[in-house]
Amino acid sequence: MKMENAVVKARTERTKWYRDARFGMFIHWGLYAIPARGEWVRSVEEMPKEEYEPFIDEFYAENYNPKEWARMAKEAGMKYAVLTAKHHDGFCLFDTKYTEFKSTNAPCKRDLVREYVEAFRAEGIKVGLYFSIIDWRHEDFPHYGDNIHPMRNHEECKNDQRNFDRYLEFMHGQVRELLTNYGKLDLMWFDFSYGDMKCEKWKAAELIQMVREIQPHIIIDNRLEGSAENAGSIRTLNPTPYSGDFASPEQMIPPACICDEAGNPIPWEACITLNNNWGYSAHDKHYKSSKLIVKTLVECVSKGGNLIVNIGPTIKGEFPEESVAILKEVGKWMKENGKSIYGCTFSDYPKPEWGRFTQNGNKLYAHVMEEQVGAICLPNMAGKVKSMRLIKDGSEVKETFYWNLKEYSENAYFFFNSRASNCYPLPDEKDTVVEITLKEK
Ligand code: GLC
Repeated sequence: MKMENAVVKARTERTKWYRDARFGMFIHWGLYAIPARGEWVRSVEEMPKEEYEPFIDEFYAENYNPKEWARMAKEAGMKYAVLTAKHHDGFCLFDTKYTEFKSTNAPCKRDLVREYVEAFRAEGIKVGLYFSIIDWRHEDFPHYGDNIHPMRNHEECKNDQRNFDRYLEFMHGQVRELLTNYGKLDLMWFDFSYGDMKCEKWKAAELIQMVREIQPHIIIDNRLEGSAENAGSIRTLNPTPYSGDFASPEQMIPPACICDEAGNPIPWEACITLNNNWGYSAHDKHYKSSKLIVKTLVECVSKGGNLIVNIGPTIKGEFPEESVAILKEVGKWMKENGKSIYGCTFSDYPKPEWGRFTQNGNKLYAHVMEEQVGAICLPNMAGKVKSMRLIKDGSEVKETFYWNLKEYSENAYFFFNSRASNCYPLPDEKDTVVEITLKEK
């Protein structure tokens, strides 16, 4: 019997759809798309707000068409999305009574969050919002001496008059607005905690209680307590109420399943960028290939996790064309092979040499990513295979007992070609997936 406390039990139930969905879209959109040097530009360049805030006057969002965004996400095979309702710069893409620094006051005069949730829901995509619990613009948020605040080195910005409780009221108030004004939300992505700015510093127990009161089913990340550096008590057997529903490794894929202290797998989601920036960056053309994205998605699922891939739209509201192209190619693969991703998780069998396994009950998916000379080996699977099909077209892949394999008969083998050889290059050079139906145990 697994030890399960109430927090873990509720988490497992809540995250069912999310663990099945496996593939999501992150969207980092905000005023930082104008300087276009990443969403941390204010902090990195220690930019005073007088320089940053006027960008609001150029936010026309003239090509923002969230229906188009939702269609692209859907075609890429993504089942959920997370949009930055507010990032660390404090600029809100939604109408809020707590600040003037919001999209409804920009020339676009639109509640961008409302349009997003409506458009994505209409496509059947689960909707999530990213919300920054730190706010570099708010007067009551520590400036001088903070680790990352843009004004950290300015003594004149010292914190004597700042009232952190007032900040918390503001922050909690905005979260309440998001949870009450936009219908059913599926996911809240809070970001982030650092140093002693974590847990009860955010009045996290109270915040979570409020969130769950308004939207009991909602899934929450782990960053009220944890961070990308340390997942927090979600990895213990007694997680705090604000430990979150999933761990959120960033710009890396964990070496194995993420487990708690007793070895029970916990939900997790790797978040990654397509180039090297979250926010739109005009000069960063270091895009990953669609092949690498497919490989990474498969890797995550083979370790029991999700992958959320980021898009950084321009200030006009367009996805960068490189991102659009990657989404299309990934979508083509997902259309043919999605069955080996959705509802799947790690396999009972260890990682094979030529690729990876994902599994869903008695369906084992062999993701062949590397060409092999001779038969493809299913280690220690002799007598286990009932049938095999190329997932893409349902054609038979035959188990082979070829003469040169006899000495290694503890394994099962197949060729991609009935003539006792493989096809070169592989039928799908990104990842050729064979669906293996296992014999009942
Ligand atoms: C971070 C960064 C950030 C980004 C996020 C995505 O911790 O502060 O800019 O939004 O992670 O995971």
